[in-house]
Amino acid sequence: MKHKIKKAVFPVAGRGTRFLPATKASPKEMLPVVDKPLIQYAVEEAGAAGITSMVFVTGRNKLSIPDHFDKAYELESELAAAGKTELLQMVHNIPPSSVSCVYLRQAEALGLGHAVLCAKPVVEDEPFAVILADDLIKSDGPGCVAQMTALFEQCQCSIISVMEVPKEDTGKYGIVEVEAAEDGTLRVKSIVEKPAPEEAPSNLAVVGRYVFTPRIFPMIENTVKGAGGEIQLTDAIAGLLKEETVIAYRFAGKRYDCGTKLGYLQATVEYALAHPQLKEPFLAYLQALNPTELFSE
Ligand code: G1P
Repeated sequence: MKHKIKKAVFPVAGRGTRFLPATKASPKEMLPVVDKPLIQYAVEEAGAAGITSMVFVTGRNKLSIPDHFDKAYELESELAAAGKTELLQMVHNIPPSSVSCVYLRQAEALGLGHAVLCAKPVVEDEPFAVILADDLIKSDGPGCVAQMTALFEQCQCSIISVMEVPKEDTGKYGIVEVEAAEDGTLRVKSIVEKPAPEEAPSNLAVVGRYVFTPRIFPMIENTVKGAGGEIQLTDAIAGLLKEETVIAYRFAGKRYDCGTKLGYLQATVEYALAHPQLKEPFLAYLQALNPTELFSE
């Protein structure tokens, strides 16, 4: 029987230190790009891929995430009373009624691998997606998760999304070594977390979209602390590779690293320039900025 991906895990317990002080009391996943929090983009991307069960692995200071996806009774009745039907519809559909949300707590921040393992009692023995909301991916066609779940329906194996990065940046990512298979896919031969450029097997970096078979769970259980003293998902994938095929997938779309200030600003500018109501006034604003003043100093 061919499996379909119906569950997505969102590890949202990280501290977001690269975004302090904004993340002192509120989660980085709630940072808005234009008018929508990062976590909502991620949930919408999963929903568009046919995923119906959203599993959030949360931690301290993350209560605004469940609040965001709960029904907002007072707000909805105020909008209804004011006749603001469009806004009411928008708020009411977060998340769409076809979707259910489950919240788990990662009591201690022990790393991404550990966060994914926390979802095991809910995911059980099914293949599932993992989505890191601070990697925002803009696609013209189907979203990155939809591209990956479609591939999963054919290959029925684990898939990690990858993109090329400058060699000097390998220390920021999981890096894969790949070989081309006869069917045109790229097979992961090895994977290493945040290698220095001189040790990196390539410049093909893992971005925050994964599809796993449930075999990843025992692999994480057998993983000891790795880079940064954390239980790394990358190390568990290295174990999985010994047992199963793992495909490296070059997704169609542009990824913004919204866990950093620069990536977040880039996303904000480009999403604003694609926003139906904002694009014209925002473009006019950018064009009116005086380049001489901007670039002096
Ligand atoms: C995590 C993963 C890393 C991956 C990256 C993508 O790192 O551990 O393998 O390349 O996400 O954003 P983090 O950015 O959480 O340090």
